[in-house]
Amino acid sequence: MRKIIIVGGSRGIGNSLLTSLVENNKVINISRVQPTLSHTNLTHYTCDILIDELPDLMEADSIIYCPGSINLKPISRLKLDDFRNDFEINVVGAVKTIQKYLTILKKGNCPSVVLFSTVATELGMPYHASVAAAKSAVEGLVKSLGAELAPTIRINAIAPTVTDTDLASKFFRNEKMIDMIIERHPLKKFLDPKEVADMAEFLLSPKASSISGQVFKMDCGIVSFKI
Ligand SMILES: NC(=O)c1ccc[n+]([C@@H]2O[C@H](COP(=O)([O-])OP(=O)(O)OC[C@H]3O[C@@H](n4cnc5c(N)ncnc54)[C@H](OP(=O)(O)O)[C@@H]3O)[C@@H](O)[C@H]2O)c1
Repeated sequence: MRKIIIVGGSRGIGNSLLTSLVENNKVINISRVQPTLSHTNLTHYTCDILIDELPDLMEADSIIYCPGSINLKPISRLKLDDFRNDFEINVVGAVKTIQKYLTILKKGNCPSVVLFSTVATELGMPYHASVAAAKSAVEGLVKSLGAELAPTIRINAIAPTVTDTDLASKFFRNEKMIDMIIERHPLKKFLDPKEVADMAEFLLSPKASSISGQVFKMDCGIVSFKI
């Protein structure tokens, strides 16, 4: 069985991935809250990535780092601490995780890492300065570490558009807002966490053994098409 560390498997995309992986893999979840699911293949560690030491582990084949932020404000209202906080949770937390488990990951079976970016790194959108800056750094990390850790460890990112999770709940407050999201996307939909989790599962797996250093947009057409 592959051993997969999920940082942030209690909710959202990470939870959808955890639910899918746990039947056939050993899953180690790290988050502040324990996932509601319990399973013999699942081990949970309560940990705030911004504060606590990560748990010592003996083995891992793959890591996915899910914590992130959607902190949308005009630049006149964004404090320097907003930029620092977004950088901490999106970038420093991912670096902390990779550094902590690098030695065991190198000994893993077809080892891989998946991080999260956003469509806002490529599509300029008002009020996204802080999160776009932090996620652009995540993309830089993917490129740089992809080269540095080749051929042993693969590292990729997924850059989703709006996904129906707690993090994006402010976009789903009422029918009118939901209709607007659907209307803005050329494929006339938004993302379900399961479809993002499926992409992550593929990238983490040996099926993606030729893919590293890539950022995969799951954009429902919003970046790719003008129609
Ligand atoms: N949802 C979207 O529309 C969207 C769009 C573009 C990009 N993304 C990116 O996709 C990724 C996943 O998003 P999501 O919507 O699934 O997020 P989510 O619903 O907020 O879930 C985040 C997960 O990370 C954990 N987490 C958060 N802060 C943590 C901390 N300080 N220490 C440990 N664990 C922490 C949470 O668990 P606990 O609360 O239990 O700690 C939770 O399990 C993020 O990087 C996000 O930026 C999402």
